[in-house]
Amino acid sequence: REELSIQYHGLFLPKETHSVNSLKFAQEFSFENDVIAVTYPKSGTVWMQEILPLILNDGDLTQIHTIPNWDRTPWLEETRLAVVVDQLKSPRALVTHFPYHFMPASFHQSKAKAIYVMRNPKDVIVSSYYFHQMAGFLEDPGTFDEFLDKFLDGNLVFGKWTDHVKSWKHNNLGDRIMFITYEEMKEDLPAALRRISSFLGKNLSDETIHTIAEHCSFNAMKDKPMSNFSLVPKIYMDSDKSPFFRKGVAGDWKNHFTPEQLSRFTSTINKEMEGESFSLPWSLD
Ligand code: A3P
Repeated sequence: REELSIQYHGLFLPKETHSVNSLKFAQEFSFENDVIAVTYPKSGTVWMQEILPLILNDGDLTQIHTIPNWDRTPWLEETRLAVVVDQLKSPRALVTHFPYHFMPASFHQSKAKAIYVMRNPKDVIVSSYYFHQMAGFLEDPGTFDEFLDKFLDGNLVFGKWTDHVKSWKHNNLGDRIMFITYEEMKEDLPAALRRISSFLGKNLSDETIHTIAEHCSFNAMKDKPMSNFSLVPKIYMDSDKSPFFRKGVAGDWKNHFTPEQLSRFTSTINKEMEGESFSLPWSLD
């Protein structure tokens, strides 16, 4: 763990893509009228990396065939941002796994908008389990049972799922933030795209929405070299162990949890949600 991560305000972040400099760059980043998609890892980050620029540029597909996702819609906290920042067109689209209180001062002072994508944590942990197997820059997940404890204890990169969600639910952003779920996007992507577009003040035609939805489907994205991480060397991401575009469905947790694991998972999360002013959009049992 120590070899693979750097520590930042009590959280572990992957050393492969984060550095003291990249975190300083993030803290000093000057937000303007940008948009940032916020996710706990494995909740639909790369999906939003595809969607946001296409909404902002009225469905112009050029970039998704020529620029890799991590440069097209960079992570605020990762090293690539400093490299590509001057090439990003305004309004810029970014993503982040930061909890709310890690966001830089300029974000709060700006008119930048945030879209928080939430995914059923039972599917998040399954997706994360396979990702830890394939990603050479993350610790070995061990068995699913061991991984379950690490997830519930917040002993993984970017910390505890409930802390992440709570931090963003208790934001101070007013109408500068919208919440959407992975499941909602799965159920009706064109409708989700319309909701995101209208939040961003874009009035897109049905044809443009259709074009974006087509290009952002799981099947379309999984074969695009600029979106599927096939450009990343195998020692960092080994798709023979598990592809990044693994299943892309809601409910795969049903194939992984034993009844005992489900009850451990549900009771821990429900306990941490006790007394909260908001409720989760799924029942966890
Ligand atoms: P699975 O492992 O369940 O398949 P992130 O980008 O935050 O790391 O999340 C990755 C998860 O989002 C993976 O889930 C991946 O398959 C899924 N995903 C990525 N693009 C998607 C799309 N266009 N449609 C549905 N799911 C998608």
